[in-house]
Amino acid sequence: MNTDINGIGTTTSEAPTRTTLLECRGMSTGYGQMAVVRELDLHVDAGEVVALIGPNGAGKTTTLLTLAGELTPMAGEVRWKGEVVKSPMHQRCRNGLGYVTEEKSVIMSLTAQENLRLANVSNADALELFPELERLLKRRAGLLSGGEQQMLTLARALCRNPQVLLADELSLGLAPLIVKRLLSAVREAADTRGVGVILVEQHVRQALDVADRVYVIQRGRIALSGTAEEIRGQLHEIEAAYLSSAFD
Ligand SMILES: Nc1ncnc2c1ncn2[C@@H]1O[C@H](COP(=O)(O)OP(=O)(O)O)[C@@H](O)[C@H]1O
Ligand SMILES: [Mg+2]
Repeated sequence: MNTDINGIGTTTSEAPTRTTLLECRGMSTGYGQMAVVRELDLHVDAGEVVALIGPNGAGKTTTLLTLAGELTPMAGEVRWKGEVVKSPMHQRCRNGLGYVTEEKSVIMSLTAQENLRLANVSNADALELFPELERLLKRRAGLLSGGEQQMLTLARALCRNPQVLLADELSLGLAPLIVKRLLSAVREAADTRGVGVILVEQHVRQALDVADRVYVIQRGRIALSGTAEEIRGQLHEIEAAYLSSAFD
C-alpha cells in the first residue's frame, strides 16, 4: 500500500484560510534516552478535529504528552500558533490548552457539581453541553456510569474554553451510543467554538465519523495520513496493515 495518501505534513487546498493552532515538526520524543516517537510532523487547525489512531504502544499518548509540554522533545519542535513553545504543561493549560488524559481525572468521592466547581466550571455551562448531567449534579461521581463520568470530564475540559483540546481515549470501554454522544460534543465544540481537537480513539469508525483528518501512527511514526473520507475508504486495508484486530 502507498504509505502516504496526502503527503505527510502538507496542507490541503482550503487550509490557508485556517489558523494552525498546534503543530509539531520533526518531533522525536520518549522516556529517558529512548525515543518512542520519531520525526513526527502533525498539526491541528482551528475548528478541526484530527484523529490520531494506531495500535497499543504506537506512541499516541507519548505524542499528546509532548504536545502538552509534559514531556520535552528530544529533537524537533512543538509550535503553538506558529511560535515554538517550551513552557511546562500547567502553563499551556492556562493559556488555551485543554487535555483529557488517559488517566481519569474525575474525583470519585466528590459530587458531579463539586467536580465542576473544582475546575471553575458553572453548572449552567456544563448543562448546556450535556443536559443529561442535570439530574446527576448532586450525585457522587463514583456512583456515575463510566459514560456519565466522561461527560463530566469533557464538560470540565470544554467549558474552560480551550483553543485546542487533546483527548486521549475519551471513550475507552464505553458503549457505542455514549461514544457517539461524546464525540459529537467534541465535533460541535470544533464547529461552534473553533476548537482544534486532537482525538486519540480506539473506536476508529466512530472517530472517522467526526474527524476531518486522520494520522495513523505505527511504532512511533506516522504511517499514513489523509482526510477522514480517504481513510474510511481504505479502512479494511489500513486495519490489516496498521491496526490490531482488537479495533471495532
Ligand atoms: N513512562 C514510560 N517509560 C518508559 N516507556 C514508556 C512509558 N510510557 C510509555 N512507554 C512506552 O512508549 C511506547 C509508546 O507508548 P504510548 O505512547 O503509551 O502508546 P499508545 O498511547 O499509542 O498506546 C510503548 O512502547 C510504551 O511501552
Ligand atoms: Mg495511550
